[in-house]
Amino acid sequence: MDYKNLLIKKQDDVAILSFNRPKVLNALNTDVLIELEQAIEEIKEDETIDVLIITGEGKAFVAGADISEMRDKTAEEGRNFGELGARIFRKIELMEKPVIAAVNGFALGGGCELAMSCDIRIAGEKAKFGQPEVGLGITPGFAGTQRLPRLVGLAKAKELIFTGDIIDAKEAEKIGLVNKVVSGEELMDEALKMAKKIASNGQIAVKYSKAAINRGINCDFDTANEIEKDLFGLCFATEDQKEGMTAFLEKRKPMFKKK
Ligand code: CAA
Repeated sequence: MDYKNLLIKKQDDVAILSFNRPKVLNALNTDVLIELEQAIEEIKEDETIDVLIITGEGKAFVAGADISEMRDKTAEEGRNFGELGARIFRKIELMEKPVIAAVNGFALGGGCELAMSCDIRIAGEKAKFGQPEVGLGITPGFAGTQRLPRLVGLAKAKELIFTGDIIDAKEAEKIGLVNKVVSGEELMDEALKMAKKIASNGQIAVKYSKAAINRGINCDFDTANEIEKDLFGLCFATEDQKEGMTAFLEKRKPMFKKK
């Protein structure tokens, strides 16, 4: 499908989704969010894709929700807009395929929230992160108040959200908001390298690992342990498990089923 505001490319079993509204630093308006949801649904269903990379064209990853669209919203419209973005970001978080954010530039407000809904964040050295919403008279609206403290801890999340401070990639790495920082030129290569490494593993095992982490993180430890045990058990019903272990014992590379 063709999108007005998104570019989607494929490299082997990896899809790369780029926001393509560089004139407004890839700000998220309703049209972009609706396209994003369609693209996510399409990628979810595409059996030839194992891993998704999300990035942005130009100097921004995503500089937030679109302020010109939001300015005149009523309370109800504001809530609906928040609900739309939060619903799509939750779909990204819960989709079975791993998602890597390749953060090339500004990831502010809704952009930081989008990056946080991805499984892994790799930042270019010029990337900037922050939740500047209070400076606009609003709270973060696409679940930033929930994901930021889970990633960086309560104290740092409150500091960032209350001050609206914008931090650079190195600081984001230091507080655990990003997994690693690389030069801008290396960013896509690094994201692709990681994506391909993930894609070379047993995809059912990757999918179950993601599910165990995502479901378990919101439960008490013993319930979470049960979730892991069930998924661990299910792995033994797959050809991938037989192949992975046989390959190890035969000292060869495993040939995992693609689907
Ligand atoms: N919404 C709409 N337009 C935006 C935008 C946004 N979030 N961010 C940037 N733009 C537009 C600018 O208005 C400007 O448009 P014009 O050329 O028509 O003037 C264009 O993009 C380029 O931006 P700047 O000239 O400002 O670029 P800069 O390099 O000087 O500054 C910046 C870059 C620091 C990122 C600055 O653009 C900025 O502060 N942007 C807003 C960041 C922000 O507050 N994000 C949070 C939005 S609220 C939100 O996201 C709510 C939520 O949680 C769901």
